[in-house]
Amino acid sequence: MKRELVKTADGSTTIYLPEWNEHYHSSHGALQEAQHVFIKHGLNPKPGDYLTIFEMGFGTGLNALLTYFASEKRNQYVHYIGLEAFPPSPEEIEGMNYTSFTNDEEAAEVFKKMHQVDWNVAREISEHFVLEKVQKQIQDLELGKETIDLCYYDAFGPRVQPELWSPEIFRKIYDWLSPGGVLVTYCAKGQVKRDLKSVGFEVSTLPGPPGKREMTKAIK
Ligand SMILES: C[S@@+](CC[C@H](N)C(=O)[O-])C[C@H]1O[C@@H](n2cnc3c(N)ncnc32)[C@H](O)[C@@H]1O
Repeated sequence: MKRELVKTADGSTTIYLPEWNEHYHSSHGALQEAQHVFIKHGLNPKPGDYLTIFEMGFGTGLNALLTYFASEKRNQYVHYIGLEAFPPSPEEIEGMNYTSFTNDEEAAEVFKKMHQVDWNVAREISEHFVLEKVQKQIQDLELGKETIDLCYYDAFGPRVQPELWSPEIFRKIYDWLSPGGVLVTYCAKGQVKRDLKSVGFEVSTLPGPPGKREMTKAIK
């Protein structure tokens, strides 16, 4: 499938799939979306000294990078499981400009380190952050019951991959989450919210990032 590197409205980069007319991030701003959906409404409200975070769709690693610096500020230890069935190429990763937006001097080094980590092993990126990138399809993934605290659900939208927004997948994630565990996603489709509810989540609709009206938060 053809892939293009493009800039979103806030100046940050993303990957565009013309055949699907689908972006890896919101075209209104990749960085703003990630910060709003996953950090502001996912990570930041989640208490605890030690969090296990599961990301569906590791992609460019933007959410992992933002989580690294945000969790450090909150003195949280993080075990980050980034699931990705079809990793972007090294050239695509090099084309992403996320580290130029942060004031953190180490950002470029951390981003590089995250992409150099081998697949399917857990590696320390720093004393407080362990990254485990898993190359697999979510349909084939098994995690233990109640082993994760927070899920960033960042799959391509239901218009192009409806099979990733099914009650079967949401049930798996519900089982993996610890009690009180949270799933956040940029998607606010009514059917997705009903399917999350049907497997037991308490679902709420929150204001979306710039350019998007709503997003979804689901609590176990
Ligand atoms: C919206 S993009 C993720 C964006 C990513 N979080 C980022 O910040 O770059 C969705 C990702 O899901 C991956 N994906 C597609 N089907 C998958 C599947 N069945 N299991 C796991 N990952 C899948 C794609 O390769 C893509 O990288």
